[in-house]
Amino acid sequence: CSGSGGEGGGEGGEGKPITVGFSQVGAESEWRTANTRSVKEALVAPEFRLRFSDAQQKQENQIKALRSFIAQRVDVIAFSPVVESGWETVLREAKAANIPVVLTDRAVDVSDESLYVTFIGSDFVEEGRRAARWLIEDSEGKTGPVRIVELQGTVGSAPANDRMRGFKEVIEGDSRFQIVRSQSGDFTRAKGKEVMEAFIKAENGGIDVLFAHNDDMAIGAIQAIEEAGLKPGSDIRIVSIDGVRGAFEAMKAGKLNATVECNPLLGEQLAQLIRDVHAGREVPRRVTVEEGVYTMDQAAAELPNRKY
Ligand code: AHR
Repeated sequence: CSGSGGEGGGEGGEGKPITVGFSQVGAESEWRTANTRSVKEALVAPEFRLRFSDAQQKQENQIKALRSFIAQRVDVIAFSPVVESGWETVLREAKAANIPVVLTDRAVDVSDESLYVTFIGSDFVEEGRRAARWLIEDSEGKTGPVRIVELQGTVGSAPANDRMRGFKEVIEGDSRFQIVRSQSGDFTRAKGKEVMEAFIKAENGGIDVLFAHNDDMAIGAIQAIEEAGLKPGSDIRIVSIDGVRGAFEAMKAGKLNATVECNPLLGEQLAQLIRDVHAGREVPRRVTVEEGVYTMDQAAAELPNRKY
């Protein structure tokens, strides 16, 4: 695939900066603030002129931002879509205006694949599988049932859909595991705590494991577990996703068992894709990110190395 536009080299042709309209999901998590920082640090003058817009987790705000970027005739639009569906119309408007679109972090569900040029981000299905594989390994020798509650991410978002799918795919092969409750905590600490409180009440002590779609919700849930007089990390084992510093601190304190890494530091790679797309160079359709899994016993040694 290739985008349309300028002349190559470091700038937008004839020494002009590349104007990028970037629509961010929001500031819902530690992961997100690290991602915003990384994007802002990479898309800097004189090479780039960044128009940054925060959608506060609302698709309607993102659609407005995209339309405003189109009206301003930016060179490239990059965005991290809050949810997967509902993008066809606005993306068609961008295409009609000849503005290439780069997806970052989250995917969209569109029937016309030509509506975006490339997508850089993690493999969320694999992250869900990794969380489940950790759980299976950690449950060696345990008899069932293992009762799991799931704190899901934002309803309709790619990471919520995919992490749930990957996790289920792996645990379905082992009859000990049962997901007894699932609800969205919208990727925030406050909601994670609130929903976990409701889970604890409803299950009346019958929860063995929490699978949280991100670390922030797990950290919120840890508070709820402690306030209920239970021990996070042992009474309820917890696995979450992202690998933010807060998760490493919780693991070091013995309150979180494992975190599956999801790297938010995409800024430099995004900048390179934008350069290439703007210059009309070929870019891969999909760029993924290398990531690992970290457990409680690795936390103290790994914490000083964490970059987010
Ligand atoms: O899209 C990535 C997810 O969004 C991160 O896992 C989560 O923390 C963020 O809000």
